[in-house]
Amino acid sequence: MNSFVIKGDIVFCPYKRQLVAIEDGYVVVRDGIIELPYTELPETAKDLPVHDYTGKLVMPGMVDLHIHAPQYAYRGLGADMELLDWLKHYAFKEEAKYSDLSYAEKAYTIFADALRKSASTRAVVFGTIHREATELLMDKLEKSGIVSLVGKVNMDRNSPDTLCETTESSFRETERFLHKTADRYKNTKPILTPRFVPSCTDELLLRLGWLSEQNDIPVQSHLSENPGEIAWVRELCPDSRFYGEVYDKAGLFGNNANTVMAHCVWSSDEEIALMKERGVYIAHCPASNMNVSSGIAPIRRYLDEGLRVGLGSDIAGGQSESLFTAMVEAMQLSRLYWRHIDPTKKPLSFPEALYMATKGGGAFFGKAGSFERDYEFDAIVIDDSTLPHPQSLTVAQRAERAVWLGADKTGLIAKYVRGTKII
Ligand code: GUN
Ligand code: FE
Repeated sequence: MNSFVIKGDIVFCPYKRQLVAIEDGYVVVRDGIIELPYTELPETAKDLPVHDYTGKLVMPGMVDLHIHAPQYAYRGLGADMELLDWLKHYAFKEEAKYSDLSYAEKAYTIFADALRKSASTRAVVFGTIHREATELLMDKLEKSGIVSLVGKVNMDRNSPDTLCETTESSFRETERFLHKTADRYKNTKPILTPRFVPSCTDELLLRLGWLSEQNDIPVQSHLSENPGEIAWVRELCPDSRFYGEVYDKAGLFGNNANTVMAHCVWSSDEEIALMKERGVYIAHCPASNMNVSSGIAPIRRYLDEGLRVGLGSDIAGGQSESLFTAMVEAMQLSRLYWRHIDPTKKPLSFPEALYMATKGGGAFFGKAGSFERDYEFDAIVIDDSTLPHPQSLTVAQRAERAVWLGADKTGLIAKYVRGTKII
């Protein structure tokens, strides 16, 4: 079946501070699962077909831990407001259009095609409140070949009439969504998606927590992104000591199932401690944090304190679905953090950025995002000869440069997901 050997210049990060580079190496894949990477082709694999990418970079597929499918249509527009105004003026207006399935069909065709052609092999995706449009999105993502977790969004307060549910309908439609999609696809699964605390009542959050517990369904949401948002949550939920505690009280903070929270720019010490205790994943979204002026998340601290961190494009807060771009932005923002905010917080290294974009986020899906034994084989192949250079470079240097120079746009020549070649 999906058993073969990949030959090429192999690069991956099994640990956040360790990049492994094997020039002219091999990865043996059996039934879509990695046996091991090798420097020489082992005798036992000599009967397998070889996919020969000699001289090309072979890296794990990128994992986008946070992306809004319906916002893809207006990416690159409207980076001129802070979060709460930006939501009102751009995001909510666009998302209301997805009650119309013919609009959703057009927009989600474009989105799924873009994701298929990107360097991402896995993504954690927000839809809209509309169940049918979100199921249509899942059909398209399944056809694209990538692995995804997709959420029908929940919103039952502080939202425009065109994008607001009752608590009861939000819950019922989510139940129905889970029922219809949990076993429908191979690579596409549902995830619970309360938008954020300002748009979800306590009762709705509690009921979603119950659904998560009953069905072992993962959870995604937003957390401590913007100071105005945090002040509003304090007003709305005076009995909680901090923002994350509101999710926690509802069982939506890693207490029942895998949970990913986007942003965490302004998380307090208590919130950070609870995220660590509960194993909550943080989706760091550097482009979005710049574009809607949210701030700079303390990623050095999160990594050094052992929290789980991956990268998100956060389209359309972020302008690009490229995780290569997100890696560069994460490294650049960490340099500004070090210079402007805290000189003890060392800038992120390239291996750390690559780790977050691959194994860091991949762990949310299980054994994904690395070329280690028993991992699912998700990979991209980059032809960096599109970026000529006169000097000799090591494989590790070529990988670093390919990321900084955006070679996912100019040189992505193959992509494998769970051992299946989709580009
Ligand atoms: N918080 C609640 N909704 C959103 C959204 O759509 N984008 C971002 N960046 N933050 C949010
Ligand atoms: Fe977001």
